[in-house]
Amino acid sequence: MCAKQVTKQPAKQVETTGHSWDGIEELNNPLPRWWVWVFYLTILWGIGYVIAYPAWPLIKGATPGLLHASTRADVDAEIKRFDDANAPIKAKLVAADLNAIIGDKELMAYAEPAGASVFRNNCAQCHGSGAAGVQGKGYPNLLDNDWLWGGDMEAIHTTITHGIRNTTDPEARYSEMPKFGVDGLLEPAQIDAVVEHVLAISGQEHDAAKAAEGATLFADNCSACHGEQGMGDRAQGAPNLTDAIWLYGGDRDTIKHTVTYARFGVMPNWAGRLSEDEIRAVAAYVHSRGGGE
Ligand code: HEC
Ligand code: HEC
Repeated sequence: MCAKQVTKQPAKQVETTGHSWDGIEELNNPLPRWWVWVFYLTILWGIGYVIAYPAWPLIKGATPGLLHASTRADVDAEIKRFDDANAPIKAKLVAADLNAIIGDKELMAYAEPAGASVFRNNCAQCHGSGAAGVQGKGYPNLLDNDWLWGGDMEAIHTTITHGIRNTTDPEARYSEMPKFGVDGLLEPAQIDAVVEHVLAISGQEHDAAKAAEGATLFADNCSACHGEQGMGDRAQGAPNLTDAIWLYGGDRDTIKHTVTYARFGVMPNWAGRLSEDEIRAVAAYVHSRGGGE
């Protein structure tokens, strides 16, 4: 068996702290030089940092520091850089004839993605985000080709700029369906009859006798807005009642509710909230997606 030779070296001649526990003493070795210097350097660096950069928290913000460094200002500068880069194409978009935008490849290359992002941020909460989106009752799907007020660039642009039935833009699109039930314009039985007529012209199951009676009532009370055939009238934003696309719903109960209480869909005006180039971009986006005319 080979025993390990254990040698004990006497402690170097170093001062002790003077503490002694049962004969065990604590040596007072100095800190390594390099460590001490690094320590002083970090203190110096810390002082320099506090002077140069935002450091001490104040009630609002912090001390600015001599360099006035600000990540917020960096972001602003970055945004400005993009705005400057896009300024020429935006100016071209604003100057272009509305109908010419669609045919212009260069303008559309900018307008479609820019419009898509305007749409996501400002319109999707009401209109849904497109094919996959769900929009609530009364909010038309803009990405189909069924139009209340018109689907060419001029019409879409006007709708977005001034909005619909709002009280903030005197030029907002306006029309008002009468409250046939609430205001006693039609008797309940007459409402039932006209509802059957609407079911008939939209190709749904209906009571033929009542619908025949409803046809006359429709001609007298509804055709001024919805058209003789019920195909709608864009000048008044009156929906086509003969197709399968419903703003509020096409079943018997919902139509009855609409005729009794009427509807009053409101859309805000965007002039003032969005810049003209944003309005044009989103109009072009809606036009390109929605079977624009
Ligand atoms: C607060 C909800 C709301 C927001 C936000 C909104 N809209 Fe609307 N929008 C409506 C309603 C409600 C209607 C239907 C009004 C009616 O019944 O005639 C409408 C109708 C429209 C129409 C007419 C559709 C047609 O068939 O003629 C267009 C175009 C339109 N919106 C575009 C936009 C765009 C673009 C944005 C975003 C910049 C937007 N809307 C944001 C509520 C909204
Ligand atoms: C003064 C014009 C006007 C008259 C008259 C009128 N409507 Fe309307 N109607 C409208 C407008 C505008 C809308 C869309 C309201 C909205 O978007 O908020 C509408 C909406 C409707 C809707 C909802 C369609 C949908 O897609 O959900 C039905 C149903 C309807 N009308 C039926 C009738 C019937 C039936 C009559 C006659 C008894 C009638 N309307 C008379 C203007 C009129």
